[in-house]
Amino acid sequence: MNQLTRHIVLVGLMGTGKTTVGEHLARTLGVGWIDIDQTIVKEHRMSVAEMFATAGEEIFREVEHHTLLDALEEPKPHVVSTGGGVVIRDDNRELIIEGGWCVWLRGQPETLVDRIGNDIDRPMLGDDAYASLKRLADERGPWYDELADEIIDVDLVTPEDVVTQVLFAARGAGVIK
Ligand code: S3P
Repeated sequence: MNQLTRHIVLVGLMGTGKTTVGEHLARTLGVGWIDIDQTIVKEHRMSVAEMFATAGEEIFREVEHHTLLDALEEPKPHVVSTGGGVVIRDDNRELIIEGGWCVWLRGQPETLVDRIGNDIDRPMLGDDAYASLKRLADERGPWYDELADEIIDVDLVTPEDVVTQVLFAARGAGVIK
């Protein structure tokens, strides 16, 4: 059986594969998938970078919070892929702790910078992507750690391997029955 009993919430820095892994995981389990950034982009008809530029980060974070809230209120268990900065707000961390089983996709800044390349829709990266990722990893590491029911290192493995590891851990934790 492959029955998901709780939401699986994927957290981690940009470039760790939360979107790719989340989509694949949900398809494998036959459950719904919610990508917080993609939902925001669709509902507000603008890219994340545009929202940062026109409304500012604070408004983006407010929208992100409400989108997370709606996702975790879904009565049926879903796979939820978050944006890397979701952990900076206390209320979001509480929601995730209460609302789901959380997997931290952990990647070294060196790996992530290679994967992200020159993605222009990532306003947190600024001019020096490596330095930004290093700083974000230092700032946010303790928060990801606080939330994580499971930690998966993504540096040397493919997204398919990560999906297999999440499935294995979720079965062990009774999140998949
Ligand atoms: C952000 C990460 C992005 C997106 C926004 C802010 C962050 O999501 O939500 O650009 O603060 O780390 P991804 O982690 O999916 O790139």
